[in-house]
Amino acid sequence: MSNTATLEINGEKYEFPVIHGTENELAIDIKRLRGGTGGVITIDPGYKNTGSCESAITFLDGEKGILRYRGYAIEDLAEKAGFLEVAYLLIFGELPHAEQLDKFHSDIKSHAYVDEEVKKILDGFPKAAHPMGVLSSLTSALTAFNPSSVNVDSEEAMYNAIAKILGKFPVLVAWTMRKKTGMPLDYGDDNLGYVENILKMMFKRPNQEYTQNDIIVNALDKLLILHADHEQNCSTSTVRIVGSSHAGLFASLSAGISALWGPLHGGANQAVLEMLEAIREDGGGTKKYMAKAKDKGDPFRLMGFGHRVYKNFDPRAKIIKVAADEVLGELGVEDPILDIAKGLEQEALADQYFVDRKLYPNVDFYSGIIYRAMGIPVEMFTVMFALGRLPGWIAQWREMRLRKEPIGRPRQVYIGENHRAFKNLNER
Ligand code: SDX
Repeated sequence: MSNTATLEINGEKYEFPVIHGTENELAIDIKRLRGGTGGVITIDPGYKNTGSCESAITFLDGEKGILRYRGYAIEDLAEKAGFLEVAYLLIFGELPHAEQLDKFHSDIKSHAYVDEEVKKILDGFPKAAHPMGVLSSLTSALTAFNPSSVNVDSEEAMYNAIAKILGKFPVLVAWTMRKKTGMPLDYGDDNLGYVENILKMMFKRPNQEYTQNDIIVNALDKLLILHADHEQNCSTSTVRIVGSSHAGLFASLSAGISALWGPLHGGANQAVLEMLEAIREDGGGTKKYMAKAKDKGDPFRLMGFGHRVYKNFDPRAKIIKVAADEVLGELGVEDPILDIAKGLEQEALADQYFVDRKLYPNVDFYSGIIYRAMGIPVEMFTVMFALGRLPGWIAQWREMRLRKEPIGRPRQVYIGENHRAFKNLNER
């Protein structure tokens, strides 16, 4: 396998090292390109062909539909592990033994409260505010109440910042939902598991005893695992680049939440439900929507379909599709949009436009159907994605800081006006 790549520009040849990943991925190392060629750079809108870093956290093979966290197959983790175990694995690199997991959870629980003053920030939002905007603001506000979390110049300081956000973020998620549902803000119960506690904080009614539903606990645990990391996606790259200025973990996560909000990224799970509802209200026929999705003049896209990396089935979508049938069956929920979703999938997979472009269902296509069956409001779907992605963002931020990566600062190709003399107002 080659260890160098040669570039010829204006008759000059330049050699660059080729680096090899542990899964035989090759990358041309162009660190010396600009300096060695007198200013030549590369350009790659959307970074479709550009690697931003070397990482040991998550491996994707888009052609084969493979996803592994620290070498473990997503199918095994979704079936056999718990979300907190997977969070530990992503952040620290190994599956924890029982003692490590217990200590991790108790350290997190020791921070599972949020300063009462934060409620005043929440009160300032209108009830109609989108939960992702609220969550991003509250997450950034945590820095003000935990200033020591910014300068993580030791492993201990970094660990404390990580335990703090893993403890406080579920409270912010629950408060964001309870603001929407008009419920009083409360705290969880240290005697419960991590995921059980999140559900209790989200759903407990002040005048009723809260009883866990194991079907819902297991379903959420699996969904959070499936969303936990996905290498250098838009929001993770945002967390990395904000973190590269040493802005602090909470500020970096707040930026990641804002990036995830977009309908082309994590916001797609909400957009899928709204699309399926529109199809249902329109009589359930999918033909019109398939035509709109293929019409270049129409901005409509089949939400939940297509992916920058996967040109095969998104392995997470396969698992979630099976789980949707199981959870709705076990809960005794009949949801007509599950059948509409399956019909749409079947039609798209047989349609030449989608086949030619290798567009398959992605993680967002079926997840909202489960969230809805669990009683989660549609505007909270992307917040649930953020809750799952939190350990992945933390792991990627930690790796970037430990590897002392430089501040992210891309170059550009200027295409504006050449130098021109200033004109006074009366001359224009
Ligand atoms: C997530 O990156 C990650 O890993 C993200 C994620 C994670 O875990 O972090 O997996 C989570 O964000 C999943 C994606 C959720 N978004 C959606 O479901 C929104 C709908 N999908 C698309 O907007 C699109 O597929 C993207 C944004 C996901 C990917 O876009 P790309 O890689 O930039 O691909 P593209 O826009 O260049 O599309 C290639 C072609 C184009 O047609 P042509 O110009 O070649 O004729 O495919 C078409 C596109 O128009 N196309 C679609 C389509 N997706 C792509 N056409 C109709 N419907 C779609 N959904």
